[in-house]
Amino acid sequence: SQQTQQTEDYLFKIVLIGDSAVGKSNLLARFARDEFHPNSKSTIGVEFQTQKMNINGKEVKAQIWDTAGQERFRAVTSAYYRGAVGALLVYDISRRLTFDSVGRWLNELHTHSDMNVVTILVGNKSDLKEAREVTTAEGRALAEAQGLFFIETSALDSSNVNAAFQKVVKEIY
Ligand code: GTP
Ligand code: MG
Repeated sequence: SQQTQQTEDYLFKIVLIGDSAVGKSNLLARFARDEFHPNSKSTIGVEFQTQKMNINGKEVKAQIWDTAGQERFRAVTSAYYRGAVGALLVYDISRRLTFDSVGRWLNELHTHSDMNVVTILVGNKSDLKEAREVTTAEGRALAEAQGLFFIETSALDSSNVNAAFQKVVKEIY
């Protein structure tokens, strides 16, 4: 039917990547269900959520994939990235090591997916002001150097979570 056709035309696969415990699953939980889990466990394998979004008055479906940051809990890498048109590359502003990993995640993304996958660098946990180890300027500079969009978010207090997903989908669309 025409309706089926329409929804299929606007189904975008988006992947969440980044080190373990940076908050990938909580960003998705906040975005898709407005939930936050203070004691969430590491993701095992792959999960995904399909979320309807409104972009310029058109209904778009984002199929957002989430997997473990830790190698040993991850599913087959190539299948995870296959067909992705958008990516949120997440680090934790309170743990510099997760920011140092961004280059490795970019390499993996570019190895397994199209070079022009719309990618946003996401500095999560912006609520942890006292514990900050990566400045906003550093995040923005890295994003600019790598040709990525940039945003800081908090899955805990909700700030910029919708904006991060909206930005990616808008740029794909
Ligand atoms: P893996 O599945 O192991 O790759 O981790 P993940 O990136 O999915 O992290 P997850 O969402 O499970 O969050 C890890 C921990 O950080 C949990 O205890 C969350 O409650 C916490 N957390 C996630 N987002 C935020 C945030 O924005 N602020 C704060 N303060 N804590 C957060
Ligand atoms: Mg997870």
